Amino acid sequence: MLVFAISDKGGTGRSVTSCNLAYRLSLKGKNVAYVDFDFGSPTAGALFEIGGKERGVPGGIGLHSYLLDLNGVASQFDVRATTDRIDLRKVSARAGRLVLFPGDEGGAEFATIDDGMVQRCADLLVALEDEFKVSIVDLSAGRSVAAQLVLKATTLPQLRLKTVRWLVFHRWTRQHIVAANGLVHGPHGLVHTGTEYGHDRAKLLGSIRYVRTAVGDPNRGDGSGGPAQATWVQEQNRALRDLANRNQLGSSATLGITPIEPVLLWREQIILDKDVTAKIANAETAVAFSELARRLDDSASWERV
Ligand SMILES: Nc1ncnc2c1ncn2[C@@H]1O[C@H](COP(=O)(O)OP(=O)(O)OP(=O)(O)O)[C@@H](O)[C@H]1O
Ligand SMILES: [Mg+2]
Repeated sequence: MLVFAISDKGGTGRSVTSCNLAYRLSLKGKNVAYVDFDFGSPTAGALFEIGGKERGVPGGIGLHSYLLDLNGVASQFDVRATTDRIDLRKVSARAGRLVLFPGDEGGAEFATIDDGMVQRCADLLVALEDEFKVSIVDLSAGRSVAAQLVLKATTLPQLRLKTVRWLVFHRWTRQHIVAANGLVHGPHGLVHTGTEYGHDRAKLLGSIRYVRTAVGDPNRGDGSGGPAQATWVQEQNRALRDLANRNQLGSSATLGITPIEPVLLWREQIILDKDVTAKIANAETAVAFSELARRLDDSASWERV
């Protein structure tokens, strides 16, 4: 299964949530690839805490070089074998592999794409499909060349019949809700661009779900205010629900919701069960990531909406 992680805005929680999703899928025994197609800022190595690769891989062996045909293969790193985080190295015998395909250190956003890049992207996606049960491709924010590249590659015959899922990440605010709708349904959005490239509109729409990240508890406000604040927060939450429904981001189109996690406010990382046991991370956060992993693989979550 190919999973394309995208958001209209930057800083939505797309990468941190996707890394945690990849980790939770691997705990369920699946072999998982995490592919850094955030070409302008290839920092996935930092999330997995792989020393020396926090800003991409040096030496011209990353995804930028591969796509530009400067290097024949895209380099890959087994997260558990290369991470500096000792507790991430430890794993039960049941777990699947977790492998990072990083971008190049110093690699930049591509200005344009050509047929050669589309072909190499398709070759990579086919190879990922052969080797991994799930490949999560973290795309640059917005209407990017990265999104165009995978939209084009997935129209090719070798990928047309593969299971492809799009996760659109957004925060639970007015600006993020309208922006996420625009990214999917607006001019030059996923549906418009995808159908222009030859995708079936209904199939493409059916492959898109939303993930609300870092959502506060409306019944608690931020904990500091009194009853007036609590009432106001609940009204805002209701208004956001209406806005989300009007923008086709209602609950039936939403794959999952992650709560605000104090650890992630301070440090981008994988939330381990050990962090929960140590009472450093909230149990709800680990549950939310596991639940996302379950629904990603549950066909009932992907019936047409
Ligand atoms: N559930 C959460 N609770 C609190 N903070 C979170 C949560 N999820 C993500 N964050 C934090 O939000 C910030 C942005 O997250 P992240 O870098 O994953 O976003 P992004 O959409 O990938 O951004 P970019 O567009 O820059 O790549 C990070 O500091 C991250 O730790
Ligand atoms: Mg990111």
